[in-house]
Amino acid sequence: MGRVEGKIAIVTGGALGMGRAFCDLLAQEGATVVLADVDEENGNASVAEIIKAGGKASFVKLDVSSEDDWQALSKKVEADHGKVDVLVSNAGIYLSGTTENTPVDEWDKMFSVNAKGVFLGSKTVIPLMRKAGGGSIVNISSNWGIVGFPDAVAYCATKGAVRLLTKATATEVAVDGIRVNSVHPSLTITNLSKDIVNDPVATKQLLGPSLLGRPAEPEEIANGVLFLASDESRYMTGSELVIDGGYLAS
Ligand SMILES: NC(=O)c1ccc[n+]([C@@H]2O[C@H](COP(=O)([O-])OP(=O)(O)OC[C@H]3O[C@@H](n4cnc5c(N)ncnc54)[C@H](O)[C@@H]3O)[C@@H](O)[C@H]2O)c1
Repeated sequence: MGRVEGKIAIVTGGALGMGRAFCDLLAQEGATVVLADVDEENGNASVAEIIKAGGKASFVKLDVSSEDDWQALSKKVEADHGKVDVLVSNAGIYLSGTTENTPVDEWDKMFSVNAKGVFLGSKTVIPLMRKAGGGSIVNISSNWGIVGFPDAVAYCATKGAVRLLTKATATEVAVDGIRVNSVHPSLTITNLSKDIVNDPVATKQLLGPSLLGRPAEPEEIANGVLFLASDESRYMTGSELVIDGGYLAS
């Protein structure tokens, strides 16, 4: 208990899925969580559950692809808490498609949420973290940000962008005591993947070379996020934490 005690943590996409598990664990370990999502209903419900369990949390409506929304969030967090210690840029969407059949508007939409959303998050919180003397940014990429997969060209490209955006930002802000790392989950049981995990054939295909042979539970990814958010990872920056059941091992 208390591994992130006293820290202020913004988690994007915290209403459902993995983000929800990140919020739960960070709050259990003493952080004050600012859950930011486009989904007000599930976001407020998640916050209510955290508070019921004895944690500290609030909901802010945010579309990660909107700079105006990020500016409003920044002002609110500074007014309410005076600082930000942790940003988990987790919100993401998935649309399938090959290089030949992906419509340009879908490509743009994926980049707007998955890549621009992560860029805007870092751009917004870095000044607040710098003022506070440091912080930890955790960007959620994917195993498909390291290797390719058929019929997922835009998704793979956005997640690869998150991987290198993380390293580039890390080189800029280490001097300010700000660490920036990426997390690379493989298939995880969430809303985003529910159609796949309910289909044994699709699950087998997506698990591919996974050594552990099953999808992850969101809590198994949350453990890695907690580590990167906490001071236990103080010597890590620009790193990629792969949590993939051995998908990339062979
Ligand atoms: N589930 C998987 O198998 C898997 C594997 C590897 C990586 N990931 C990545 O993990 C992250 C979380 O995925 P998940 O499976 O929990 O997804 P999910 O669909 O279950 O939840 C995503 C959350 O993000 C929110 N969101 C979507 N667009 C948003 C926007 N523009 N602004 C703010 N919030 C927005 C949704 O409302 C939702 O609460 C994503 O970045 C995803 O790409 C998922």
